Amino acid sequence: MSRYLQIFQQSIDGPEAFWAEQAKRIPWYTPPQTILSYDDQQHARWFSDGEMNLCYAALDYHVDNGRGEQAAIFWDSPAAQAKKTISYRELRDKVAHFAGALTQLGVTKGDRVVIYMPMIPEALVAMYACARLGAIHSVVFGGFAPHELAARIEDAEPKVVVAASCGIELGKVLPYKPMVDQAIELSSHKPDACVVYQREAHRAELRVDEHDWEALVAKAPFAECVPVKGTDPLYILYTSGTTGKPKGVMRDTGGYAVALAYSMQAIYAMEPGEVFFTASDVGWVVGHSYIVYAPLLAGCTSVVYEGKPVKTPDAGSFWRLIEEYRVKSFFTAPTAFRAIKKEDPDAKLLQNYDISSLKHLYVAGERLDPPTFHWLDDLLDVPVIDHWWQTETGWPIAANLPGIETVPTKAGSATFPVPGFNVQVLNRDGEQAKPMEQGSVVIKQPMPPGCLTGVWHDERRFHSAYMAAYPGYYLTGDGGYFDEQGYLFIMGRTDDVINVAGHRLSTGEMEEVVGAHPAVAECAVIGIHDDLKGQLPIGLVILKDGFEGDEATLEAELIARVREHIGPIACFKQVLVVDRLPKTRSGKILRKLLRTIADGKEFGIPSTIDDPTSLADVHAAMRERSVGAADKATPLD
Ligand code: COA
Ligand code: AMP
Repeated sequence: MSRYLQIFQQSIDGPEAFWAEQAKRIPWYTPPQTILSYDDQQHARWFSDGEMNLCYAALDYHVDNGRGEQAAIFWDSPAAQAKKTISYRELRDKVAHFAGALTQLGVTKGDRVVIYMPMIPEALVAMYACARLGAIHSVVFGGFAPHELAARIEDAEPKVVVAASCGIELGKVLPYKPMVDQAIELSSHKPDACVVYQREAHRAELRVDEHDWEALVAKAPFAECVPVKGTDPLYILYTSGTTGKPKGVMRDTGGYAVALAYSMQAIYAMEPGEVFFTASDVGWVVGHSYIVYAPLLAGCTSVVYEGKPVKTPDAGSFWRLIEEYRVKSFFTAPTAFRAIKKEDPDAKLLQNYDISSLKHLYVAGERLDPPTFHWLDDLLDVPVIDHWWQTETGWPIAANLPGIETVPTKAGSATFPVPGFNVQVLNRDGEQAKPMEQGSVVIKQPMPPGCLTGVWHDERRFHSAYMAAYPGYYLTGDGGYFDEQGYLFIMGRTDDVINVAGHRLSTGEMEEVVGAHPAVAECAVIGIHDDLKGQLPIGLVILKDGFEGDEATLEAELIARVREHIGPIACFKQVLVVDRLPKTRSGKILRKLLRTIADGKEFGIPSTIDDPTSLADVHAAMRERSVGAADKATPLD
């Protein structure tokens, strides 16, 4: 039996013994005696009686054990034309003083703090300061509009909002403070305080009741770490669901810390003192786990990059960063490499850099499409590892695991389930699918440590979204299959969530915004294939009878609405007016069928369809605009 299989089997047959052993990777104040327990709803809870503090484990512990002068962060910002190295000791001190500042603003254990910041070290400082106090942070990605920020403030009810004065995107300076003001205005919950970190590129006007970060920290005491239980919440991270309301995914502290520490060794093969670089954003789960927490828990150095893969200044940025910081493992989304490939198809810029420090390349956020896999595989001498995960799981569900055993990769596969994740594929009858048979990908309970523990303030949604479909299993929302050798292939979402440039977006939410326009009778938003971003949303719209305006103007209005409500990150730039949309006899729009048309695939007309001519109508409209290309990845029908 292979080493991987042996370890995987141990984790499934004896989860308590397995995770009790992994828990030793973390410096607990009180080591847990209860490893696995279940709440009233029979959801797994890990390390419930252990006591720890994640900030202590990631910072103070290393300072106390000889890593004080080692770099914790290499911050590199072509956007701000600045670089900074911050040692573990410096970072610990910054965090402790900002935690002191938060304490003076009344933040205590269990309070929520919303953080709206770009990729600057202060974003990490704010997150760790919350962890230090046992407060719960909720980071909101900067590409979301005020309306989205407001929805999160409304739901999380933060005591304090922490923001930066601006973000910087490909030469554009984006003032954040007006967006924060608008969001607080829109929300019925009003935070007690707002703290702003002033950046040189744009200083925000502050009201007298608002706080300047530097001024606040200058007179703040050094706060000590507050011990928390393993099951106490560390953060809420909102993610797109099938409805307009984002889901507040909740993460515990102890289980998350243990899972991340385990992953740094088993999946990323990292040793203390080595350099880890994840090119993502602190606003996404990838950023939370592998920019902020995991590298420092493991005693590594994390590269924090404020820039794009291309045009900052060119498509060689990643290679430059790998050389400059001697990066051992690098992680980003496939779309970033598609952007690089488009600009520099023969990777000529790579010749300018020595990337010999690189030992593994990881991608996630969307499926690594075979052409991009082959491009990377031919280019680099290191394993190219696609691995699959979600905001909900917090760490990878399936991967190649060089820290245990590197197995040959297969293009298009996320390889094998990670120890702890009992992944199964269920077919339409709810039975285990045979090899090569596509179905719904689920995880048999108990989920391993690190996975979501609930949806903030919404136990019913937690159950209905994830647990109700197949009792005893967690529903991932992804479709896929195992091949004969047990390789897992994740082929796409089975719900109305789409993936645009590695970002997860809800088409339902876009439909709510488009459908609210007075001229729109009905609409459907679907994802269509895009060579660079994987998918792009397109709105199919039926106008109300008697509409007399100009269609092009209306389309522009709808596009502006989505940008204003959800944000530029929605990439909603295409609207198509159609006469009819295909529906079932019960009146539901057939979105999966629409996706098939958009992808340019052959389709048969299902017997349940109400009006077959509506299909031809949409098809013709799509053809006319030449949208939709044949997708290489076959979504489930
Ligand atoms: N703050 C404000 N606006 C932001 C933003 C932020 N943090 N991030 C993106 N935006 C804006 C962009 O400026 C763009 O606006 P525009 O419509 O005015 O041009 C819009 O949101 C769409 O952004 P994006 O989809 O990222 O497109 P892009 O063309 O700027 O970049 C890629 C495309 C592929 C280079 C980029 O998405 C990328 O590097 N992705 C891979 C890494 C990643 O983010 N992974 C996430 C999970 S691992
Ligand atoms: P997010 O929660 O934003 O990280 O998005 C999670 C979703 O992205 C998953 O449910 C998948 O649909 C998709 N995804 C992430 N990584 C992969 C991968 N390696 N292969 C296929 N799909 C992926």
